[in-house]
Amino acid sequence: MKLIDTHGRVATDLRVSLTDRCNLRCQYCMPAEGLEWMPTEDTLTDDELNRLIRVGVEMLGVRDVRFTGGEPLLRRGLPAIVAATKALPSGPRTAMTSNGLGLKHIAKALAEAGLDRVNVSLDTTDPETFNKITRRDRLSDVIEGLQAASDAGLAPVKVNAVLLRGINDVEAPDLLRWCIKHNYELRFIEQMPLDAQHGWNRAEMITAAETLALLEEHFTLTPLDGRGSAPAEKFRIDDGPHTVGIIGSVTRPFCGDCNRVRLTADGQILNCLFAREESDLRSAMRAGAPDAEIAERWVAAMATKLPGHGIDDPTFLQSARPMSSIGG
Ligand code: GTP
Ligand code: 5AD
Ligand code: SF4
Repeated sequence: MKLIDTHGRVATDLRVSLTDRCNLRCQYCMPAEGLEWMPTEDTLTDDELNRLIRVGVEMLGVRDVRFTGGEPLLRRGLPAIVAATKALPSGPRTAMTSNGLGLKHIAKALAEAGLDRVNVSLDTTDPETFNKITRRDRLSDVIEGLQAASDAGLAPVKVNAVLLRGINDVEAPDLLRWCIKHNYELRFIEQMPLDAQHGWNRAEMITAAETLALLEEHFTLTPLDGRGSAPAEKFRIDDGPHTVGIIGSVTRPFCGDCNRVRLTADGQILNCLFAREESDLRSAMRAGAPDAEIAERWVAAMATKLPGHGIDDPTFLQSARPMSSIGG
C-alpha cells in the first residue's frame, strides 16, 4: 500500500508533531500569552506514536520521519521515540525541526539514538531582535544548541529564518554571513497564514523575490538544479561551497511535487499543511482497530489532498489548527 493522492503524488515523508507546546512565543506563530494547549488525554502516548510511525514506515512506504512540535524537545520520551523509529526494519531517515532551546543538553543523546539531522529556527543573531520576535531572552541557548548539534554530527545543520518587515529583514545578509561562518545551511522562509492569531497579511510578507534581491546586494547567487520535492530552492553563494535556500511557500509553491503527510500529537492525519479536514487515527486506534485498518484509514485520508494550498484563492480560509500544533 502507498500513500498516493488523486493527483498522483506519493507521500514518503512523514512529519510527526510530538507536542503543541512551545517555550518561545514567536510573533508569526502565536500570541504572547501562548495558547490553550492540547489536553494530556488527547495526546498520543509514546506507544501509540511508535505504533503509528511503524504503520507509516513498514506498511505505507514512509522513508523519512521528521519530528516537529510545537517544540519537540519538550517531549520527555524523545530519545526513545527516535530510537524506536530508527530501529524499524526499513531504517527510515530521521530528522527534527526545533527551536534549539535545550538542544545543547540532548544533541549527543539524540544522535546516539539515531537522529540523522536537525533544522533549527533562528531569525536573527541580534539579542534585541531575537527577544522582540520570540518574546523570550534565549538567543544564547539557541546558538549553543546549534553548536552542540554540529558537534554531535547532526549534519547538515540547517537554520530556518522567517523575515519580518521592519524587524529582521535588513539583517538577512548578516545572518547569512554568520551561518556561512559556522557552516550552517540557512533557508529563508516566506511567512505563511498559519499563525494562531490569524494576523497574516500578504502585503506585509517578505517575498522570496525580495529576499533574493536583498541578498544579491551583497552576494552573487547562482541557482542550483534539483529542488525535487524539497521546499527550498537552493543557491550557491559567491561560487563557494556554501548555499542558501529560499522557501517561497506562498509565491513559489512546490505543492505539485509534495511528498509530505503529517501526524499531529493528538493522532490526526493532515494530508497538507493547509488541510481543513483531519482523519482521526487516535480514536480508531483506541477503539481497537488493528494495524491493517489503521493503514487503510490513512490511505483513505490522502484522497482529499488538494492540488495546492490555495492561499491566492479569494475563498482561501485559514485552518483552525495553528502551525504550532501541525508542526510546520
Ligand atoms: P529539509 O528536509 O531539511 O529540507 O526539511 P524542510 O525544509 O522540509 O523542513 P522544516 O521543518 O525545516 O521546514 C521549513 C519550512 O518549510 C517551514 O516553514 C515549513 O512550514 C515549510 N514546509 C515544510 N513542509 C511544507 C509543506 O508541505 N508545504 C509548505 N507550504 N511548507 C512546508
Ligand atoms: N510561516 C512560515 N514559517 C513559519 N514557521 C513558524 N511559523 C511560520 C509561519 N507562519 C517556521 C518556524 C520553523 C518552521 C517549522 O516553520 O520558524 O522554523
Ligand atoms: Fe515555538 Fe516554533 Fe511557534 Fe516559534 S515558530 S513559537 S519556536 S512552535
